[in-house]
Amino acid sequence: MRPSQAPFPATRLRRLRRTPALRALVQENTVTPADFIWPVFVRDGDGVVEPIPSMPGVNRLSVDKVVEAAREAHALGIPAICLFPYTDPALKTKDCAEAWNPDNLSNRATRAIKDAVPEIAIMTDVALDPYNIDGHDGFVEDGAIVNDRTVEALVRQTLSQADAGADIIGPSDMMDGRIGAMRDALEAAGHQGVSILSYAAKYASAFYGPFRDAVGASGALKGDKKTYQMNPANADEAMRLIERDLREGADMVMVKPGMPYLDICRRAKDSFGAPTFAYQVSGEYAMIAGAAERGWVDGDKVMLESLMAFKRAGCDGVLTYFAPAAARLLNG
Ligand code: PBG
Repeated sequence: MRPSQAPFPATRLRRLRRTPALRALVQENTVTPADFIWPVFVRDGDGVVEPIPSMPGVNRLSVDKVVEAAREAHALGIPAICLFPYTDPALKTKDCAEAWNPDNLSNRATRAIKDAVPEIAIMTDVALDPYNIDGHDGFVEDGAIVNDRTVEALVRQTLSQADAGADIIGPSDMMDGRIGAMRDALEAAGHQGVSILSYAAKYASAFYGPFRDAVGASGALKGDKKTYQMNPANADEAMRLIERDLREGADMVMVKPGMPYLDICRRAKDSFGAPTFAYQVSGEYAMIAGAAERGWVDGDKVMLESLMAFKRAGCDGVLTYFAPAAARLLNG
């Protein structure tokens, strides 16, 4: 027993759980729509809302529909939206040039949202996998994912996203040295105000499966991502990565996946005190949405409980596909 607590019966911890009013009074954490970054999948076309089978309730949206989604997010009090392009397989190449095409899908969506809903923050994804014929986040040479040449490409991709109007750059690639290179390039190009949310502790996880379906990378990927994403057995290494990225100029850091890695979120927040986010990834979403669809769990309650877990673990916010549904519930 803690020294500050009197022994039973002077201390009865149930006293403060007795009524809703008392419980509300001593509640330690809260979830609000302002905690969410909403990841959305963008595809080409017009007026298209295409369901993703492995993510019930999540769709690929054409640019006009993404603009509607951004408008909805803003109305719900969600401060940021994160864009992931589903790239036409015909545009995937060995050199990944589509990644920095000023008119690629991600950049077109960014400009359209900035035009229609300038209040919402736009986060974009930096990594080569949506554009890579090999399906990897970096260039493949002789079967290996090469680091430094990939970083040069990531910098080009970053600058094209910043030029299009991105507010937050989200490098999800896990190459070494990319944060410093991106920060230098952004400063030199006059994009001092563009921030970086580093996917600093990103694990080689099987929970990404549905996402790879959503962006059309499942078929392309040869092998696994274990030479650049982290071993799920490691925690100290996550602290080294986060510290490294903060020293290179990351404004915010992320732990990914989310729920299976809440210990990492807590350690990150306690160790560095930087703005810390978790990504509740596609497989986590699919497990909850799939079980809810079958009536095995109460979907709304499990969703909100899962989101509260991130706040309790010290996160400032969470990337979640539940963002609009959760915001609607929270707003009543
Ligand atoms: C790839 C990327 C992935 C996710 C975001 N960016 C998958 C991967 O690393 O293979 C996963 C997101 C999710 O599962 O929701 N750059």
